Amino acid sequence: MNAAGIAIDVRNVSKRYGTETKGVLALDHVSLSVPKGSVFGLLGPNGAGKTTLIKVLTGISDLTSGNATVAGFDVRRESMKVRARIGWVAAEVILDDDFTARENLWLQAKLQSLKDWEPRAELLLQYFSLADRADDKVSSYSTGMRKKLEIALALLHQPEVIFMDEPTIGLDVSTRRMLWDIVTGVHREFGVTVLLTTHYIEEADALCGRIAIIDHGRVIAEGTPSELKARVKGDVIALETVEPIDVGAVGSIPGVEEVRPQGNEWMIRVASAETVLPLLLASVRTENVRRVSVEKPSLETVFLDLTGRRIGQEEPMRDIRQFYAQMRRARA
Ligand SMILES: Nc1ncnc2c1ncn2[C@@H]1O[C@H](COP(=O)(O)OP(=O)(O)O)[C@@H](O)[C@H]1O
Ligand SMILES: [Mg+2]
Repeated sequence: MNAAGIAIDVRNVSKRYGTETKGVLALDHVSLSVPKGSVFGLLGPNGAGKTTLIKVLTGISDLTSGNATVAGFDVRRESMKVRARIGWVAAEVILDDDFTARENLWLQAKLQSLKDWEPRAELLLQYFSLADRADDKVSSYSTGMRKKLEIALALLHQPEVIFMDEPTIGLDVSTRRMLWDIVTGVHREFGVTVLLTTHYIEEADALCGRIAIIDHGRVIAEGTPSELKARVKGDVIALETVEPIDVGAVGSIPGVEEVRPQGNEWMIRVASAETVLPLLLASVRTENVRRVSVEKPSLETVFLDLTGRRIGQEEPMRDIRQFYAQMRRARA
C-alpha cells in the first residue's frame, strides 16, 4: 500500500517511562500501518501499552525512539498539524456536567478555534439523536447519551482520524451494543479512520477490520479477525482436574497436538474437540475431572496460544503483591 492510503504509520516506536535502568518499557519497537477509512483495533490486556500508544500518536506523550505519522504528519515535528486532524475519545469522561450539549459543543469549538462550526454541531446533534435534549444539562444525561456527546465533540472539527481508548469500558451490555453501532456508523457516515483500543475480545472481533494484538508493549500478531483466527488451527479443550493428569497418555491420544499446564487447568490443543473429547474423558478418570470446556478458534485462543495467558486474566504478579499485602496486614 502506498503512503496515500495510510492513516497511521508507526515505525519501530518505543516508549519508556522513567529512566533506562528503573523505567517501564511501555512500548517495545511497535510497528503498525492503519489503512485510511478502516476501523483498526488494538487488543490487549491491562498494562499492554494501548493507552501509551494513543498518547504518543495524539502528541500527549513523547516517544522514546522510532517514528510515527498520523494523517501524513509526523507526530513529533508536526504535532499541531496532527492535532488539527484527529479527534480523541478518552476512557474517562471529559464533559462539563453543568453545561448543556450545545454549550459543550460551543466550548469545544472555542478550544479548537473553529469557525462556522454551528451547522456541523446541529448535524451531529441530529445524527446522535441528541437534538431534543441539546439544551438540557449534561448532568441529566444517561451514560449512552454522554458517550454520544463525547463522540460528537471529537467529530466537530471534521477529523480524519479518531482515537477511542476503551470506548465501552464500564458500560452495560445494551449501551455497549449501541456504541458498537455508533462506531460502525460514524466510520461509514463521516468517513473517518477509527483507531480503538479494547481488552474485550468480542468488541475487537465485532468492530474491527484489522486488529493488532498487543502484550507487554509488543505487537504479537496483526491481521483481519479471520486471518488471526486462522493462525490457531483446531480447538482448545480446557480441563480442570483434581489431580495432575498423565501428560504422556493424553498426548498420545490421536488428534491431540499439545498438552500444557496453565494454572490449575490443562490446555489441550486438538484438531477437533468432537473427536478427541470422548477419548480424552475415557483416558482421564471421570472422578478426577472438575470442569471441562471447549474453546473454538477465537481471538482469545489466539492470545492464549501466543502468550499462554487469557486476555482478561489478572497478571500473576498482582496476585502475589496482594498476597504479600495481606500477609503484612495480618502480621501488623
Ligand atoms: N505515566 C506513567 N508512568 C509510568 N508508567 C506508566 C505510565 N503510564 C503507563 N505506565 C505503565 O506503562 C505500561 C503500559 O500502560 P498503558 O499504556 O496504560 O496500558 P493499557 O492502556 O494497555 O492498559 C504499564 O506497565 C503501566 O503501568
Ligand atoms: Mg489503557
